Amino acid sequence: MKPKVFVTRKIPEKGLELLKRKCEVRVYQGRKVISRKELINGVKWGDALLCMLTEKINKKLIDVNPHLKVISNYAVGFDNIDVKYAAEKGIPVTNTPGKFISRAVAEHTFALIMAITKRIVEADQYTRSGRYEHWEPLLLLGSELSGKKIGIIGLGRIGSGVAERAKGLGLEVIYYDLKKDVQFEKQFKAKKTSLHEILKNADIVTLHVPLLPSTRHLIGEKELAMMKETAYLINTSRGPVIDEKALVKALKQKRIAGAALDVYEHEPELTEGLKRLSNVVLTPHIASATIEAREAMAKIAAENILITLAGKKPKNQVN
Ligand code: GLV
Ligand code: GLV
Repeated sequence: MKPKVFVTRKIPEKGLELLKRKCEVRVYQGRKVISRKELINGVKWGDALLCMLTEKINKKLIDVNPHLKVISNYAVGFDNIDVKYAAEKGIPVTNTPGKFISRAVAEHTFALIMAITKRIVEADQYTRSGRYEHWEPLLLLGSELSGKKIGIIGLGRIGSGVAERAKGLGLEVIYYDLKKDVQFEKQFKAKKTSLHEILKNADIVTLHVPLLPSTRHLIGEKELAMMKETAYLINTSRGPVIDEKALVKALKQKRIAGAALDVYEHEPELTEGLKRLSNVVLTPHIASATIEAREAMAKIAAENILITLAGKKPKNQVN
């Protein structure tokens, strides 16, 4: 009998094809996030679960089928899963890191940096709405990037990818991470500093940490107050890393120049007041949404399942 894989949402066909060669695959077909009831039924039915970051895989859900053989998360982040409890039950949890997703997120980070510093979204709205009547010396002035400092918080694959791209734009790189990376520092003429120094000195602060108890609200009222009035905050990591209420307040009072966000503290909900601000750019958690990355993620997520079902340790096990 073929092992059964439950997939909580349609993913690129390349991944499903890999699974279908060896397994019976059931893909939830709804257009919205799967309901709890349907998720429970799927977990009960399957030997393996391929899930999204929109599903909370907690103790209660894992207890529905403690014989589950693997939980393969279709994401790099895995804060949606109680990985410790899964480990206690002997269930490996896997994620989908790799060069394509790191590139996609690093590129999106720059799309946001460009959009906010060059006021692209405001300018687009201005032009579309018919307000563009003539050239003006002082119209929609933005900031130059060349020679400015970018402060990268979290130097994993994505943070390093941001540094690599920053160099090409003539940005000076400073970073904060628990570990020092000498090779990286040489390659990018980058300097490790404290979080405090980044907040005080960076013109662009960009977040690339996982969501952990220690990174929740890493950027709050106190940290925002340390930032330069001309600085921008970029977030493509996880929403709760920023205290979004404090951010809205800082932006309203123009205590920082702007923010560009792909993730939200209570997503898909936005903190009251955020969408009325003109000094923000908002995207709907699409930093990894390149065709290349989403296909690679589908293959990696499928392979993580196939390897585990074959009785081997998956490469991307996180627990
Ligand atoms: C997306 O947010 C991911 O973690 O892959
Ligand atoms: C992405 O692959 C990361 O590990 O940061």
